[in-house]
Amino acid sequence: MCCSPGRRPGSGARSTVALATVTSADNEHPVAAGETAATFKLVHDHADRIYLWDYERCRTQLVTLYNKAMGSQWNSVTDLDWDLDVDPEGLVDQGSPSMQLFRATAAEPGSPIASWGEREFTALGIEMFKASISQFMHGEQGAMLTAAKIVETVPWIDAKYYAATQTMDEARHTEVFAKYLDLKVGEAYPMSPFLEEQITVLLEDSRWDIAYLGMQIVIESLALAAFGDMLRRTSEPLLAKLLRYVMSDEARHVAFGILTLKELYTGLTDAELKDRQEFLLDNTLRNRARSTTPEVWERLGVDAGALVPHLSAAAGKMKASPFAGFQRGFFAKLVPNVGKLGLLDANRGYLRDRWGAAGLLEFEHADDTLSDYASYDEVAKDRSMAR
Ligand SMILES: [Fe+2]
Ligand SMILES: [Fe+2]
Repeated sequence: MCCSPGRRPGSGARSTVALATVTSADNEHPVAAGETAATFKLVHDHADRIYLWDYERCRTQLVTLYNKAMGSQWNSVTDLDWDLDVDPEGLVDQGSPSMQLFRATAAEPGSPIASWGEREFTALGIEMFKASISQFMHGEQGAMLTAAKIVETVPWIDAKYYAATQTMDEARHTEVFAKYLDLKVGEAYPMSPFLEEQITVLLEDSRWDIAYLGMQIVIESLALAAFGDMLRRTSEPLLAKLLRYVMSDEARHVAFGILTLKELYTGLTDAELKDRQEFLLDNTLRNRARSTTPEVWERLGVDAGALVPHLSAAAGKMKASPFAGFQRGFFAKLVPNVGKLGLLDANRGYLRDRWGAAGLLEFEHADDTLSDYASYDEVAKDRSMAR
C-alpha cells in the first residue's frame, strides 16, 4: 500500500471502463478527467445537515449505548497481533457449501473447470476468500460514510454522539480488513456493483432515517450474519479475533438503529411507514441479484460467462442452496429487528403478509439485536479475562 493517489482495488482496464460513467456532476470539482473512476467515486447527498441547540441528554438508552461504545473501543494496532503468520491455503474451508458447489460444477458435462484438481480448487478458495474480505472492506467504508451522514442529519443530540462513535468504529473496521488483505492475503477485488448500488442509494437519500434503516438494520444484520459465518469456518487466530471484535461493534450499531427508529416510527403516518416497508421489500424479496464475482474467475483464467450455466445446473441439483445457511442467518437477525420497529404490522400487516408468504416469519421471535447486543461484546469478555 502507498499514500500516493491509489487506484481502485482490482481496477484493471475492464473495471475502469465499467466505471467510466462515474464522473463529477460539478464542473468546478478539481478532479482530473479520467482520474475519478480509478481513485474515488463521487456521491451527492440530498439530505439536510442539522445543527442542534438542544444539548439535553434525554434519551437514556442512547446515553447508555454511547457510554458503552466509548468503553468498548479497541485499538487496531495493539489489540491484534499482526505478526502472526497466515497461510492463505489454511484459510480455505474445503467443506463449505460454496466449495461443494464448485466441485459439483466441475463434474457437469462440458464444464470449463472439468480438468481442475486440488491445486486449482485451493487457488479458487483463496481468491473467493479475498473477494469476501474485499467486500467486507468496501462495505465498512460505506458504513463509515453512512455513520458520518447520520452524525450530520439526525435531529437528536444523543444520536449524533452515538453515530460519531460508530464512525470511528467503521473507520477501524475498514482499516483492519484493508490491512489483513494487504499484509496477509493479497490484492483486493473491486466493490461488487450490487453492494455499491445498495450503499449509494442510502447516501443519496434525502430522508435521514433511510440511511439508518438501510445500514443499521439491513446491511449490519447482513454483516453480522456474514462475519459470524466466516468466524465459524476459520481457525486462523488473527482473523478470528478481528471478526470477534468487529462483531462486538456491529451488534451495538444494530441496537443503535433499533433504538432510534423505534422511537421515530411511532410518530410516522401510515403512508410514511408504507415507504419504509416497501424499502425493506426492495432490499429483501425483490432485489436478490448478487454479484457472481466474475473477477475471481477471470483471475483464474476461466470465462465466467461460459461457467455460469454449469454453476446454475450444479446448484439446481444440490439438495439445498449453498447459500441457504447464510440467508437463514441474515433473516434470523433482520426479521426480529424489523419486528421491534413495528414495521411488520404497520398498514394492517403489509410486510408481515409478504415476508410470511416468503417463509421468513419463522424468525419473528428470535432474539432481536437490541436485546442481545451485549452478548456479542467479545472485547469486554477479553478485558475481564485479562484482569
Ligand atoms: Fe463495521
Ligand atoms: Fe457497523
